[in-house]
Amino acid sequence: MLFNFVIKKIIGTKNDREVKRLRPLIAKINAFEKGLPALPEEALRQKTAEWKARLSALPDRAAQSQAMNEILPEAFAMVKDSCRRLVGREITVRGHPTVWDMIPFDVQLIGGYALHSGRIAEMATGEGKTLVATLPIYLNALTGRGVHLVTVNDYLAARDSEWMGAVYTLLGLTVGCILHDQSPDVRRAQYACDITYGTNAEFGFDYLRDNGMATRLEDQVQRGHYFAIVDEVDSILIDEARTPLIISGPAVVNVDNQFYERFKPTIQSLVFAQQKLCERFLDEARQLIPKLHPADGSQPAGHENLERQIGLLLYKVRMGTPKAPGLLKLLEDGEHLRLLHSAELELHADQSKKALYEEKEELLFAIDEKSHDADLTEKGRNFLRPEDPEAFMMPDLITAFHEVDTGPETDPVKRVEAKAKIQANFETKSQQIHIISQLLKAYCLYERDVEYVVQENKVIIVDEHTGRLMHGRRWSDGLHQAVEAKEGVEIERETQTLATITIQNYFRLYEKLAGMTGTAETEANEFFDIYKLGLLVIPTNKPVARKDKNDSVYKTKREKFNAVVQEIVSIHNQGRPLLVGTVSVEASEQLSNMLKRTGIIHSVLNAKYHQQEAEIITRAGQRGAVTIATNMAGRGTDIKLGPGVADLGGLHVVGTERHEARRIDRQLRGRCARQGDPGSSHFFISLEDDVMRLFGSDRIIKVMERVGIEEGQELEHPLLNRSIETAQKGVEQHNFQIRKRTLEYDDVMNKQREVVYGFRNEVIHSVDVRDRLMDIMEEVAVQKIGEFSSPTMDVQEWSIRGLSDWVNFNFPLGIPEKELARAANAGTETPVTGSLYDGLSPAQFAVCVFISKRVREAYEMKASFENPEAIKAIERYTILSAIDKLWQEHLYFMDSLRNSIGLRAYGQRDPLIEYKAEAFKTFEELMVSIKTEICHNIFRSASSLMAFQQFLQNLSRHEAIHPQAGSYSQADATGASRASDVVSEAAAAVAKTKPVRSGPKVGRNDPCPCQSGKKYKHCCGRNG
Ligand SMILES: Nc1ncnc2c1ncn2[C@@H]1O[C@H](COP(=O)(O)OP(=O)(O)OP(=O)(O)O)[C@@H](O)[C@H]1O
Ligand SMILES: [Mg+2]
Repeated sequence: MLFNFVIKKIIGTKNDREVKRLRPLIAKINAFEKGLPALPEEALRQKTAEWKARLSALPDRAAQSQAMNEILPEAFAMVKDSCRRLVGREITVRGHPTVWDMIPFDVQLIGGYALHSGRIAEMATGEGKTLVATLPIYLNALTGRGVHLVTVNDYLAARDSEWMGAVYTLLGLTVGCILHDQSPDVRRAQYACDITYGTNAEFGFDYLRDNGMATRLEDQVQRGHYFAIVDEVDSILIDEARTPLIISGPAVVNVDNQFYERFKPTIQSLVFAQQKLCERFLDEARQLIPKLHPADGSQPAGHENLERQIGLLLYKVRMGTPKAPGLLKLLEDGEHLRLLHSAELELHADQSKKALYEEKEELLFAIDEKSHDADLTEKGRNFLRPEDPEAFMMPDLITAFHEVDTGPETDPVKRVEAKAKIQANFETKSQQIHIISQLLKAYCLYERDVEYVVQENKVIIVDEHTGRLMHGRRWSDGLHQAVEAKEGVEIERETQTLATITIQNYFRLYEKLAGMTGTAETEANEFFDIYKLGLLVIPTNKPVARKDKNDSVYKTKREKFNAVVQEIVSIHNQGRPLLVGTVSVEASEQLSNMLKRTGIIHSVLNAKYHQQEAEIITRAGQRGAVTIATNMAGRGTDIKLGPGVADLGGLHVVGTERHEARRIDRQLRGRCARQGDPGSSHFFISLEDDVMRLFGSDRIIKVMERVGIEEGQELEHPLLNRSIETAQKGVEQHNFQIRKRTLEYDDVMNKQREVVYGFRNEVIHSVDVRDRLMDIMEEVAVQKIGEFSSPTMDVQEWSIRGLSDWVNFNFPLGIPEKELARAANAGTETPVTGSLYDGLSPAQFAVCVFISKRVREAYEMKASFENPEAIKAIERYTILSAIDKLWQEHLYFMDSLRNSIGLRAYGQRDPLIEYKAEAFKTFEELMVSIKTEICHNIFRSASSLMAFQQFLQNLSRHEAIHPQAGSYSQADATGASRASDVVSEAAAAVAKTKPVRSGPKVGRNDPCPCQSGKKYKHCCGRNG
């Protein structure tokens, strides 16, 4: 404790020193600002234009950044001066006329500097971060490279771009805003502005569409990733970062949804059987419990053993049915919770986990609420398939393969077949096990109206932070399907990822990143670890006058909520406004019902009031107002105190539960006492709250027990606050580890995505890809030569037949075997070291050159029948469609690899390492397949049927010289019909690859997400 204190002290002073060090800079800015009001407004815009011309012409980033540092004091002064000029002017923000009244305070200048230097500026809520951002945005936009400001929702993006737009326009810069329903042209125009506001999702989806879907340069909307300032940075880079951005479409490989239906009845009875089993364990525990405290007050014999027995029983029940009401009721008693914890500790302390395993095996399946895992046990497998308990056991692939290799079978073909069979069996089983595990979770961990709601025959996820319904979002890995099966609603067809990126990786694309929030300190490690973002805590402009009461702790939720209502009534009677934060929609509705009985008029902020949310929050500071809101609702909107409220003590904030992360609680507290206003906060907690139930440290329970609180009694002490914070720190760490792990998995995908998007972009950005196409053909030829021959072989030993089959199957050349052999035998030249051909023998080299020369000639001829512009488009399409088709299949494979890899952890191997190895291998294969596919398609596309027929006719004349022809040398009739197939196939392929976005659901009248500019119902949604 002392140690921590000392550390804090050091870090604290380091931060303070840094802030102090900036004072001279602030003085300089203010000195510059003194001289500015004398200038005409036009002079400011001239200065901007001058700077912009100079900075954008600088050759590199280092020079630009140096130039920016030089003009920083003057540039910040210009922003401050333009704010001064705006004072008293009316600006329309989101339809409301607002009078400008802000001139940046010194602390805001410091904040602006922190952002410019690529750090997180922690500034308390209400300190005016919106304005702070304008300083570095103006300065950095002078480079002409586009600065992005990222907000948490569309409302804030629009509000802030309009509000702060006044400053930018006065200074002569342009500002844009990306909103959900804009067409690609509008988006492009917004990105072309000097400054662009928008949400993380809009920026991220645009990136994915630009790089993963657009097939032409003119379809791309973004123009690079230079500098992003992320507002509410903790919310975006930590909370939102848990779900990646995904553009999805129908799965290329379809998993049978019938499995969910098929397993549902058995899983239902399995869950029922487990409930009965756990009920029995609970009964046993209930019978043992009274023996702990005999009526005569004596210590019973074998007391310790008794405690252990009860603890084990409770632990088992929690593993079996974590949300059973009977269990939760028993655990309300701190003593029982303690017994459960010590049983857990004991089981996990044992390295071999043998005892834990044995306890598990008494159940049918085991659920881990913390890690969200569900596992069948031996007993469970027997229950499901008594005649074949092996049905749900994963075979160990490596061992099984090894057995085949060392077994009696000598025929290699039969061995390969045997392995393929094992592999197929493995895949079916792993799919079934996966579905069962998802169904178990759906039944045991996902509660209707808490984690999700059912509306209009659909399962809709409820956001655990805001309580909002997340329309269109789906849980991944088949969990959503499992919940759909459980609820008996239509199981939607499996979709697959067409393009995806995590928020982390999207923001790592920026050359320069900065963030601002009221609460970053508790997550400083994570920001640094993952984003390399440092932190500067900026002092408030006026001292914070908020009074934070100690937490009040109760035994049960019921008691807690009664106390909350009492507090609301008493504060409300003083006329003070109240803001009550809850962790879920359910809790806010429960509280609202309780309040209705007292007759207090109040507003509830949840999904239903979505649109007016910001406006309601603005009024929350008026006399007598009572507002109930889920913890995150209305973040970023200002609460101004009504007349006379400050004299009463300002806004009072009530927290009805501690959140998993401390910063969310701090965020709630910060809603009051803004800009030096008076205010107070008070949190209420019960031992039944999730945080306490899952992570409550034994210490709290011991304290509670020692004091022996009675029903309805509250406990309150600074020590208790500290223990609760310790519990929260534990959860924060735990969640950070999970996020880090997820990121490690995603890093693998990220590298692959970079390669593939790089390849795509190269194709999109080059005017002419013919050379690239021919290069690819040569690369594939070199690779194929290696398959049919080796440098040390004589030409006679080569598989000339195989080579000629391959050549003639892929290209319409009809080269006879003899001719290939002749070319090979004529070879004398050794390829140049370091060239594509390096390592080939002279014969191999010669045959490669021969083939590629012939392909090039034939290709030139084909091209001569085409419109020159059309052929360019076709060539690009040939490459892109091969990339996209195979990349999507690869994404599908990677998804399932990730699902199945956890299962392989049984073999004591680290799943992440396995995943990386497998991913690497398949990615290499992918790159080869893409090139082979491109090669295969070079001649199989045409801009029109006519051009293709002409080419084929000409070819058959050509073939007369080479009678032994390949697959192209059929009669003209078949050739022509194939041509039409090819053309229509190409058209169909274009139609198929259009994306359907799985983020917010696309409405029939919305613009199509494929960016065609048409309405969805007239485009990709035509058949749906
Ligand atoms: N320099 C200033 N002078 C006067 N008022 C200011 C100044 N800067 C900001 N304000 C006012 O402070 C209020 C809060 O501003 P803002 O919403 O930008 O705060 P914030 O730091 O973003 O808070 P939150 O963390 O809640 O998002 C606004 O009403 C704004 O007008
Ligand atoms: Mg804000």
